[in-house]
Amino acid sequence: MGPDVSWWRGAVVYQVYPRSFADGNGDGVGDLAGIESRLPYLRDLGVDALWINPWYVSPMADGGYDVADYRAIDPVFGTLWDAERLIRAAHRHGLRIIADIVPNHVSDRHPWFRAALAAAPGSPERARFHFRDEPNNWRSRFGGPAWTRLGDGQWYLHLFDAAQPDLNWDHPEVRAEFEAVLRFWLDRGVDGFRIDVADRLVKEAGLPDRPVRETGAPGFGSDGPRPQPDKDRPEVHGIYRAWRRVLDEYPDRAFVGEMWVTDPDRFAMYLRPDELHTAFNFAFLKCAWDAGALREVVDRTLATHAGVGAPPTWVLSNHDVTRHATRYGRADTGFVKRVHDVPSDRALGVRRARAAALLSMALPGSAYVYQGDELGLPEVFDLPAAAREDPVFRRTGGADLGRDGCRVPLPWGGDAAPFEFGAGGSWLPQPADWRDLTAARQLGDPASMLSLYRLALRVRRGEAALGDGPMRWLDLGEGVLGFARDPGFACVVNLSGRPAALPEGAPLVASAELGGPAGRLLPPDAAVWLRT
Ligand code: GLC
Repeated sequence: MGPDVSWWRGAVVYQVYPRSFADGNGDGVGDLAGIESRLPYLRDLGVDALWINPWYVSPMADGGYDVADYRAIDPVFGTLWDAERLIRAAHRHGLRIIADIVPNHVSDRHPWFRAALAAAPGSPERARFHFRDEPNNWRSRFGGPAWTRLGDGQWYLHLFDAAQPDLNWDHPEVRAEFEAVLRFWLDRGVDGFRIDVADRLVKEAGLPDRPVRETGAPGFGSDGPRPQPDKDRPEVHGIYRAWRRVLDEYPDRAFVGEMWVTDPDRFAMYLRPDELHTAFNFAFLKCAWDAGALREVVDRTLATHAGVGAPPTWVLSNHDVTRHATRYGRADTGFVKRVHDVPSDRALGVRRARAAALLSMALPGSAYVYQGDELGLPEVFDLPAAAREDPVFRRTGGADLGRDGCRVPLPWGGDAAPFEFGAGGSWLPQPADWRDLTAARQLGDPASMLSLYRLALRVRRGEAALGDGPMRWLDLGEGVLGFARDPGFACVVNLSGRPAALPEGAPLVASAELGGPAGRLLPPDAAVWLRT
């Protein structure tokens, strides 16, 4: 048997946050028709797959991560028929579709939870959730307590918003239901699933109090020191083994897990050959713009994945974190939790984001592009409070602005908001200066972020034939990251603060203009791909 060249080992996956991608019906909220209309853009961008954030029927208490019906599309996005048509259309464009499955919790409007509310304490309806007569000391990941009290005196557990009651994964009906939901979408042609909060489904038996400690988890509400519910319980792996058996009944499908598990050995356990195919590399996302730190993360990532034979992923941003074009322009470029009162140098952030794009697409494995990264969009901080929808904002009393600032609808063209996002405004206001960042404007500019992404993705797929495989470090001196890949490819990233001399090789793509008389000097905070 030859090497495993399954698509997911080397795919570039574009993350579509459907509410903010493109609005087909002019109601100010993105939808499936909008996504379908932009498939040519995504094909021409050169990505391999789309991961679409939840599209199911939802009261939208958490942007769709509160699902009321896993087998239907929310009317704001379209219909099931639209989803089937979108999957077929994407396939015709050579794009795969990864759906988002949300198994830790349901919406409080889900029929199971409504039945639980209508039933008595101790009833079978309540057994599918975590109901107790007394709460424990756990705090919600969005701020505030993780328990809400009902009129009859019982409390129910929600690791996120009160509108997202946690399911009891010890219950056989819960397990059976999610396997059926996987099949429902596999039968409709999805190519894989992104698994929401994959490490938290199973709770510690008896739900005991936890010691108080400061949260180290990025991306969510922080309301000070708080007892963290235990995550990453060993029993969770049984769930993914069962899911893998379901997926393996269908050819060529893949999982990507969302686990904020920092211990590399524990992380790797999810990627064993009979569990998940891939998982998001948040260590890379959180890493500071620093040569030593990045090299360490890359080495650790490669070792972790090699041990279980899984391809790494390289993730710079997503819908839960501050956009990296903003993070990289700050004095402290590492990302631990969201801050909004720290200045960011826009030009520096963009420069580094360009270099980071080349780095992430040259490393072995699969890479992720969050919608708008390819336009170099910054985080938006000055959204009016009334427009904000993220429950993190509300649950922390505004202390944490939440995640709306990275979810502002995309600017596609034109000179004024909503910049061709749709015909009827946008659910979050777009900054006026995004007129210079529209896709249409950037397409016409060879020096734009969009042109860089398009060129890099073409070279990645074409002549450089990147994707999964081995790499070796080149010794290019302090602060300069360089690595080679066979056959005849090198990537150099200059984090040294001074121009760096390039090794042998003809430049294929550069994130900034090369300097020096022969064009052999790579400026600081820039990256280049070389044919060697
Ligand atoms: C995941 C999602 C996030 C959501 C949370 C609860 O972390 O990425 O957006 O709020 O789970 O479902």
